[in-house]
Amino acid sequence: MDLVDPFGRTIRDLRISVTDRCNFRCTYCMPEEGMIWVPRSEVLTFEEIERLARIFVERFEVDGLRLTGGEPTVRAHLPVLVGKLAALRVPTHSASPRAGHSPDLALTTNGATFRLVAHELRQAGLDRVNVSLDTLRADRFLQMTRRDELVRVLDGIEAAKEAGFQPVKINAVMQRGVNDDEIVDLARFGRDHDVEVRFIEFMPLDASGHWASADVVTQDEIVAAIDEVFPLEQMTSRGAAPADRWRYLDGRGTVGVIPSVSKPFCGDCDRVRLTADGQFRTCLFATTEFDLLKMMRKGADDNAVAAEIQRAVGTKWAGHQINQVSFVRPKRTMSQIGG
Ligand code: GTP
Ligand code: 5AD
Ligand code: SF4
Repeated sequence: MDLVDPFGRTIRDLRISVTDRCNFRCTYCMPEEGMIWVPRSEVLTFEEIERLARIFVERFEVDGLRLTGGEPTVRAHLPVLVGKLAALRVPTHSASPRAGHSPDLALTTNGATFRLVAHELRQAGLDRVNVSLDTLRADRFLQMTRRDELVRVLDGIEAAKEAGFQPVKINAVMQRGVNDDEIVDLARFGRDHDVEVRFIEFMPLDASGHWASADVVTQDEIVAAIDEVFPLEQMTSRGAAPADRWRYLDGRGTVGVIPSVSKPFCGDCDRVRLTADGQFRTCLFATTEFDLLKMMRKGADDNAVAAEIQRAVGTKWAGHQINQVSFVRPKRTMSQIGG
């Protein structure tokens, strides 16, 4: 049975945050110190995650699961969870291209320790990996992430390719005056390393609350800067995915831009989210959460949990209001929501 929201959008993708903890402290995401972590007893167990994922996949025909954090690889035994999720099956009667198969299993990571788990995750059934990389300069990397780990992240990207993940994508959050002078260098990196770089417009989910619209480097600016050096041709419709994509005219791959602020894509959204502490969110910017952890621990059966999920999806709004005065920031930061 499809999970359809009040605007007629069918939910197909569940983003699962497996931890709110992280080994980085990116300035656009977390404060340097003073994060209050979710107590371990309030983090969903692998069994609880599997149970919820099963409801989404088997009852509601969700055919994509993405593991996020914080940094998902800091959660111990992550391949065990991937193995459990890879054993789920999208119903054979579903219209999904994955009908009868496991859902598309993806992971978003900062890459720093990815080499240590790449092979095991691949073996366990993970299909795709997106690695965050906002700069190619070591000094700037240290400033932006507060960790001196550029070399290990670059190695993590290589490890992802070696382990056979396809595609490997790179996420680069652009901030005016911080790293926008590296647009062409990052695009060149993608071409040279055969990975799809996706430039991301900076969103108001930073812990410090310093986001200003003037900091956002827009999709039009990014595409113009790349096109001047490496001519581009836009590809057809993105579907429900957040990234618009372009092809290099010389055949050296593709590049994407995620224009959350300048060209919101909420109208095509097929995503819902689960936080590490079991709160269900129907939008990255939602201000209401549904406490599935509490429900499950009080003994609710699958029918009751599924009914609560349907009730929540019934409240999914048309879209975020970043560009309007009425915009209210969610109380949680990106690392707590899961990106
Ligand atoms: P693919 O399936 O590989 O396209 O992954 P993805 O782009 O959906 O996921 P990823 O975790 O790599 O996220 C890339 C960027 O897109 C991050 O900055 C996310 O916060 C952002 N993003 C993902 N989903 C949404 C969404 O529903 N709304 C908005 N505004 N941003 C989103
Ligand atoms: N705006 C846009 N993207 C962000 N990310 C983290 N914080 C922000 C923000 N404020 C990105 C990370 C990662 C993905 C999950 O979200 O860089 O690639
Ligand atoms: Fe960690 Fe990702 Fe947040 Fe950076 S953006 S601090 S890598 S959760």
